[in-house]
Amino acid sequence: MTINQQIEHWLTAHKHNSASATRPFVTLSYAQSWDGSITTRSGESLALSGAESTRLTHQLRSLHDGILVGIGTVLTDDPQLTVRNWPGTNPQPIVLDSRLRLPTNARLCQHPDQTCWVLTSLSKGSEFGDQVEIITLEGDAEGRINLAEALTLLWKKGIKMLMVEGGSQVITAFLKAQLADALVLTIAPTLVGGYKGVGNLGITNKLQLPQIRPLHTQMLGDDLIMWGNLHYQEPVKS
Ligand SMILES: NC(=O)c1ccc[n+]([C@@H]2O[C@H](COP(=O)([O-])OP(=O)(O)OC[C@H]3O[C@@H](n4cnc5c(N)ncnc54)[C@H](OP(=O)(O)O)[C@@H]3O)[C@@H](O)[C@H]2O)c1
Repeated sequence: MTINQQIEHWLTAHKHNSASATRPFVTLSYAQSWDGSITTRSGESLALSGAESTRLTHQLRSLHDGILVGIGTVLTDDPQLTVRNWPGTNPQPIVLDSRLRLPTNARLCQHPDQTCWVLTSLSKGSEFGDQVEIITLEGDAEGRINLAEALTLLWKKGIKMLMVEGGSQVITAFLKAQLADALVLTIAPTLVGGYKGVGNLGITNKLQLPQIRPLHTQMLGDDLIMWGNLHYQEPVKS
């Protein structure tokens, strides 16, 4: 089986296992250097994936109902989050944007077939017209979107499989909340010494560190792809 077939098989099994779930199955997927950097520094774009890994990312998008990024990623990369290098349908684009910083000319506001969902803790936003659906949720203590509430809402709106493509603050928040179920990591053969994909998880007890198993690895072009399910041994007390 090719790596594309293996990953499709692995993810599809999760899709079929979700009958009793009340929130989407969440796959984290991003590219990093050998030293764990996703870019040089926050706010800078850095393309790390090779052509084959980019195709795999597009395939992954096609296997999920929704694709979520933080507003930091939108402001930096202006991504389209569409499926272009693989046959398949576009997932629903979703942005975590508590303070509604999404520019009206962002490419996500000109999506070819979906209205972008913006999860915010503000209620205004009429300037977006029908390009964007503003969804207001109560903010947490820091004013940010409560991820558990966001996932419940996304589930009710039909998102059963959710891909989270970054950036670091969002990846870290999903791991801290123990709401990420799987990880597909592209490791590019370079050293960046930059902004790390996973920030401080606030964990001092080794037993609470998220574990990945079973672990799958395979080379794809010059990149190493690692994928597996995330397990949390003990709940983190807040
Ligand atoms: N290599 C890769 O695969 C990859 C992938 C994606 C991004 N990147 C890079 O990563 C950088 C962006 O990452 P980033 O860490 O600065 O930003 P980010 O994670 O994309 O977005 C963070 C922002 O999302 C908003 N947010 C709302 N609710 C949140 C919650 N519950 N938890 C966390 N954030 C929440 C916050 O802004 P508000 O408070 O204003 O809502 C926060 O500042 C860019 O340089 C980009 O190029 C790399």
